[in-house]
Amino acid sequence: MADGRLKILTHGCSSYKKPTAFLWNAGYRWSRSGMALSLVGFLLLLQLCFVASGTNAVSGDSQLRVSLSQVEEENSQVHFHRTKRFLQAAKRRQRQPGPATLVDEFLDENSPLRRVFFPEAATAINPVNGDNYYRPGNIWLDTDVNPIQAHGGGVLYDEISSTYYWYGEYRDVPQGSTTGRIDVIGVGCYSSKDLWTWKNEGIVLPADMENKTHDLHISNVLERPRVIYNEITGKYVMWMHIDTGNYSKASVGIAIGDSPTGPFQYLRSLRPHGRDSRDMTVFKDDDGVAYLIYSSQSNSELHIGPLTDDYLDVQPDMQRILVGLRREAPTVFKYQGIYYMITSACTGWAPNEALAHAAESMMGPWETIGDPCIGGTNTFRLAAFLSQSTFVIPLPGSPGSYVFMADRWNPAQLNDSRYVWLPLTVGDPAGPFEFDFGFPSWPRVSIYWHQKWRLPLGRR
Ligand SMILES: *[C@@H]1O[C@H](CO)[C@@H](O)[C@H](O)[C@H]1NC(C)=O
Ligand SMILES: *[C@@H]1O[C@H](CO)[C@@H](O)[C@H](O)[C@H]1NC(C)=O
Ligand SMILES: *[C@@H]1O[C@H](CO)[C@@H](O)[C@H](O)[C@H]1NC(C)=O
Repeated sequence: MADGRLKILTHGCSSYKKPTAFLWNAGYRWSRSGMALSLVGFLLLLQLCFVASGTNAVSGDSQLRVSLSQVEEENSQVHFHRTKRFLQAAKRRQRQPGPATLVDEFLDENSPLRRVFFPEAATAINPVNGDNYYRPGNIWLDTDVNPIQAHGGGVLYDEISSTYYWYGEYRDVPQGSTTGRIDVIGVGCYSSKDLWTWKNEGIVLPADMENKTHDLHISNVLERPRVIYNEITGKYVMWMHIDTGNYSKASVGIAIGDSPTGPFQYLRSLRPHGRDSRDMTVFKDDDGVAYLIYSSQSNSELHIGPLTDDYLDVQPDMQRILVGLRREAPTVFKYQGIYYMITSACTGWAPNEALAHAAESMMGPWETIGDPCIGGTNTFRLAAFLSQSTFVIPLPGSPGSYVFMADRWNPAQLNDSRYVWLPLTVGDPAGPFEFDFGFPSWPRVSIYWHQKWRLPLGRR
């Protein structure tokens, strides 16, 4: 059935040229069916979701399909329904309510497309019984068959145990919580040998339920935890964004542990270089020097600076980069001596366009290459597949290939935010399928939309 649809729907996507040969030339095998599906883009995703969830007897369903087929056409004027909520929001922003966009629809809790953006439990990825395919946006279960809680996460590959550890915000709100949306619950940790089957290692840095003046008090904010291993001290060091509920503290927190699964001991928070710091990440270079990258000056620019040898503080050295661009959600990786960064714009929980940046040195200068997203429709791509960057995992043995990790935030229920993992490649700029971003000197960074895909089999 999917194939039949494929033929029909591919027709509507003719303006989109996927660099298939380039992907194959890179010498690894993303799944053939995943790749074929990626050609089709958003409409097929949506249609398949309906088919998969056995949609029946839902009134207005055919109407949905009509509006979704409009989504698929590049540059089309999409007329989503303008709900009361949408009109009120436009009024609050003192803006003429223009046509509702894909993002407006996405942010509308009452949207009839809700289960398309956030598919139901029936389609959850279950690695224990599943088919080994990542399906971005679906609920992802751990080996205990519970939804993975590791949002805004990062992955550490621990050489000592040859194991991947995924750290992220544990967002499942406990009974009796009052603040609901932003509570610190703690840092969740999951382990895996294959980046696919994840075992829950528990909350390795829990919130403080009682002490109101503690950074980790449940009323505060803990986001984007990152763990790196320090060869000199033999310690695992965690950095994270620490904030108050109103985001005025704008600090980084530091914790330390003897093993990847902790427990981590919280040391303190600080304002790096005396500046405000919100979204952040850390990057450990080949030479063992680690860097903190953070959004500063009220998110108008990013700052980069090296950490001390023990990774427990920043050094005084700092560079301001992407000044005035208002980027957040940074993640850094390195390929063939060049540093790459993916960032998002600052629009709260709403998705927006991703950008890739490159530099010959961590301390800059950094240049913007362009939007790395490929596939799906224009609107879908310009919303980074309705997700926000959080991390890029290198695949050892496959030079130039990575897994791009992103969050599809669910602002109405953050614990039900989804993971969007997609293949990312860094390629030669001279390929026949190259897009021209006007910065030909940098290799192209590409994140390919796939409705489903898997890593090469040898990896598991
Ligand atoms: C509460 O946290 C603050 C800040 O970390 C600390 O100084 C204080 O000792 C803590 N109080 C208790 C009772 O643990
Ligand atoms: C933000 O919240 C903190 C306590 O959580 C409070 O001390 C501070 O005054 C608040 N700042 C603003 C600007 O509301
Ligand atoms: C999120 O929390 C709600 C209520 O607190 C709960 O009913 C729901 O099952 C949770 N969802 C996930 C995916 O954990």
